[in-house]
Amino acid sequence: MKLDFKHANPGLSLLPRAQEAQALLEGKSCKGAEFLGWLDLPEKALAAVAPVEEAAREIRKNHGLIVVGIGGSYLGARAVIEALSSGLPQDTSGFPVIFAGQNMDSVYHQAVLSTIRGKKYAINVISKSGTTTEPGLAFRILLSHLEANHSADEIAKLVFVTTDASKGSLRPLVKSRNWTSFIIPDDVGGRFSVLTPVGLLPIAAAGKDIRKLLEGAKSMADSIRKDTSANNLALQYACYRNAAYASGKKIELFLNYQPGLHFIAEWWKQLYGESEGKEGKGIFPASVDFSSDLHSMGQWIQEAERTLFETVIDVEKPSTDIKVPSSKVDDGLEYLAGRSLHDINRIAIAAVQDAHQEGQVPSMRILLPEMNEFHLGGLLYFFEYACAVSGIMLGVNPFDQPGVEAYKKTMFKMLGKPGA
Ligand code: PA5
Repeated sequence: MKLDFKHANPGLSLLPRAQEAQALLEGKSCKGAEFLGWLDLPEKALAAVAPVEEAAREIRKNHGLIVVGIGGSYLGARAVIEALSSGLPQDTSGFPVIFAGQNMDSVYHQAVLSTIRGKKYAINVISKSGTTTEPGLAFRILLSHLEANHSADEIAKLVFVTTDASKGSLRPLVKSRNWTSFIIPDDVGGRFSVLTPVGLLPIAAAGKDIRKLLEGAKSMADSIRKDTSANNLALQYACYRNAAYASGKKIELFLNYQPGLHFIAEWWKQLYGESEGKEGKGIFPASVDFSSDLHSMGQWIQEAERTLFETVIDVEKPSTDIKVPSSKVDDGLEYLAGRSLHDINRIAIAAVQDAHQEGQVPSMRILLPEMNEFHLGGLLYFFEYACAVSGIMLGVNPFDQPGVEAYKKTMFKMLGKPGA
């Protein structure tokens, strides 16, 4: 993986601050140091991957899987599964994975019930606290559907729980009903948990190679954790975004050119938004899917308030390519006949970077050699590490999220929750 700063100020004058932040992180003396379990996860998770793979094999004996979780308890899994698929809605080329518990929409959950009616779907309910309303309600609805159709022994083969070792409402159920369960480590926050069973179990159940994902993350960890030089990709990214922020660019736009990468952006937004957005500070992380959004958001990006900078994902080698066919139809596109669609897509990236630079929107390109488990694992770890360094440079605790509680308190009061 490489970073290309041809269309941006790399901000390397901030390198000493990034190095200080890295030293605080590695010395475990930064704010929130009790949540640094993710730093060693690639190695630790590789050593403990077999039971996760075993559970994934069990899940795959069924028609499909429903993943019940919200925020950090689902975005990583969805991001990886979709990045390794086509991005086509309802891509049925693999094992069906449905996501529930991220909303409380009755129409959505009714559709989930209709989809699984008469079929055996496993459920992986994921909640660190075990008390979150959205996944809690979805799981209650799904469990009551299972109970209407299956014996307790059958249900025990279908339900997989990923939660805290002792706290929350799911752990007692695991014990009393003999369900298979996995632990979310205390020292790993939700948005940093993709390389725990939170992400690994659904990803493995979807048929993706979690060993390669972890090996990619480990290889990235090995290369960035000890490197304090200007060559360190994570320090480079942290410098770039902090320099852009200091110059008045308050919004970071994450750009992808492949529909399958939409949820990588969603995962990235939570990671950076929850980690940095506090104490009246923080870059606003936003995302667009190109080329489609060039035809809706392109005008704003090119000419509106100059508060944007961009981070672009550019995948060098496609997993498959199409040659533009020759045609007798006069559609004005014959000059592209015989060209690779992937190359044309990448020319769009270069053209947009040039145009946006002219419009004073700097952009940095992340060159990913290929979209596979190994490189994706590296990309995830790179983003996590750079996020921690960047948040420390900003002076905040990158590992807490006190603001997320505000809406819950009011909602619980309105719903009449006892004690709220
Ligand atoms: O990053 C976080 O901590 C949050 O996004 C949580 O993952 C999310 O709120 C879900 O919480 P829980 O796993 O406790 O249900």
